[in-house]
Amino acid sequence: MTVKLAVICYSATGSTWALAEAVAEGAESAGAEVRLRRVRELAPEEAITSNPRWRAHRDRVQAIPEAELADLEWAEAVLFGTPTRYGLPTAQLKQFLDQTGGLWAQGKLVDKVVSAFCSAGTAHGGHETTITSLSHTFFHWGAIIVPPGYASEIQMKAGTPYGASYASENGKRLPDETTLASARFQGRRVAEVAADLLAGRSSGVAR
Ligand SMILES: Cc1cc2nc3c(=O)[nH]c(=O)nc-3n(C[C@H](O)[C@H](O)[C@H](O)COP(=O)(O)O)c2cc1C
Repeated sequence: MTVKLAVICYSATGSTWALAEAVAEGAESAGAEVRLRRVRELAPEEAITSNPRWRAHRDRVQAIPEAELADLEWAEAVLFGTPTRYGLPTAQLKQFLDQTGGLWAQGKLVDKVVSAFCSAGTAHGGHETTITSLSHTFFHWGAIIVPPGYASEIQMKAGTPYGASYASENGKRLPDETTLASARFQGRRVAEVAADLLAGRSSGVAR
């Protein structure tokens, strides 16, 4: 069964985006049909241009389609990525989530298989609070949260049971190989769990 999976990520300076690509790769390796989507920018062009890393990342991902509500509706599984902002997800991702009221009211977000990942400037700057605060939204949706946990050897090494994350030193550092492998594992695990769920449903076992 081919799982339809969306990776929906906001990234200003590219650190979280590196994880998004690895997550997408992991999901594809499990046979999922993947849509990698960037969350719409809300910051003014002057702010972006004033930061060379932000400008460069924005130019680099220009050709990537922006996330639409239709992607959420389409997907059976969704992985959300965001940098930490004062220990919370970005306003850009929150704005995207705040537009889901119509889908929510129609029950179209129920049973989405979801997971989240992030990057932060420092090791203790709020990785876990950022990821877990997204779960508040997931609870309201009635989504099924699939964290990476310690469900593989790589997770024992990465130590990120809530979701892949790393300290980017404010956009100066890209993820190391362990973090990338952990992000690939998270993408693969979400795709596999969603496939199991869908297969159970179609065989009449799950309901
Ligand atoms: C307004 C603002 C608030 C931030 N708050 C935090 C924070 O609370 N903790 C932290 O470790 N890093 C914080 N950062 C740093 C970013 O989370 C970090 O550089 C992140 O890796 C950037 O991801 P990106 O390259 O995908 O945009 C903040 C950055 C900005 C601009």
